[in-house]
Amino acid sequence: MKLSGTFSAMASIAAGLALAGAATVASAQGLPPLEQKDRYKVGFPQMESNNPWRIAETKSFHDTAESCNWDLVATDAAGSAAKQVADVDSMIAQGIDVLFLPPREEKPLIPAVLRAKQAGIPTFLVDRSVDPNVAVAGRDYVSFLGSDFIDQGRRVAEWTLANHEGEGRIIELEGTTGSSPANDRKKGFDDVMAEHDRMTILASQTGDFARDLGRQVMETLLQAHPDVNIVYAHNDEMAIGAIQALEQAGRTPGEDVLIVSIDGTRDALQAIIDGKMGVTVESSPFFGPLACEVMGRYAAGEEIEPWVKVEDRIFTLDNAADHIDEAY
Ligand code: AHR
Repeated sequence: MKLSGTFSAMASIAAGLALAGAATVASAQGLPPLEQKDRYKVGFPQMESNNPWRIAETKSFHDTAESCNWDLVATDAAGSAAKQVADVDSMIAQGIDVLFLPPREEKPLIPAVLRAKQAGIPTFLVDRSVDPNVAVAGRDYVSFLGSDFIDQGRRVAEWTLANHEGEGRIIELEGTTGSSPANDRKKGFDDVMAEHDRMTILASQTGDFARDLGRQVMETLLQAHPDVNIVYAHNDEMAIGAIQALEQAGRTPGEDVLIVSIDGTRDALQAIIDGKMGVTVESSPFFGPLACEVMGRYAAGEEIEPWVKVEDRIFTLDNAADHIDEAY
């Protein structure tokens, strides 16, 4: 469609004002602005692809690229924070317009975040965060898009208290050491349990958010603590690994051991339906559409809230069957 002279002049003034707005808000915060344009070169340096959650998150970015006019530069750090830093550096060198970073761990990715800012690239942290004592949203990066991990741990603890009578002897399978979900899910759960004398955390050890490591760690901890009757896993993959270890040891998950977890994967919802697992609090991996929406607002000059919070549901026997078809 061709615009009339006056109309096209107005449109270009409006575009200019929007850009000026973007620059004003961004520079007031000391952050690089984002120009409004037809296509963006978008960096998404994924940390690993060893579980359904990560695969669903990467797919969400690829699916969004089409509708949001992104030329997506996506990498896979294969579980190495050092490789993820190198991937960010390479994206900076390739001249990406904007960076959506899921930092594997809280500290090692901070230099990469600061280098992106120095290179004039607005950065959004997605799903995981960095150490807030060192790097701050609104100053070092634009915003964190993600769940409240402390609240997820708290909700699992509260559900467990309401659904497990008597003494609870708990094994906790932690996520990746030094990652924000592992730190926060532990805090949320442990703080609630500390207020209840009938609950004891027998052991707490990392399974790196991975199914097979979760299984191996559970095997070892089960030998040291055969009286365990609750397993809290920081994600569904480790919960499924724990179920395998318990079954191999002749235990009956769901009957003599209550399994509680976080994410909402298809396997976890099936385990709930099968009576092997009690609850999983959702942690959505579908960040692509949210990233597109927030990036659009930033390019239009809007000030972005430091934390764009994702609201999570809770899945139990009451609703798991209703949601399994949409699960990943
Ligand atoms: O950062 C979110 C966590 O990372 C998910 O709970 C987990 O499954 C993933 O690896």
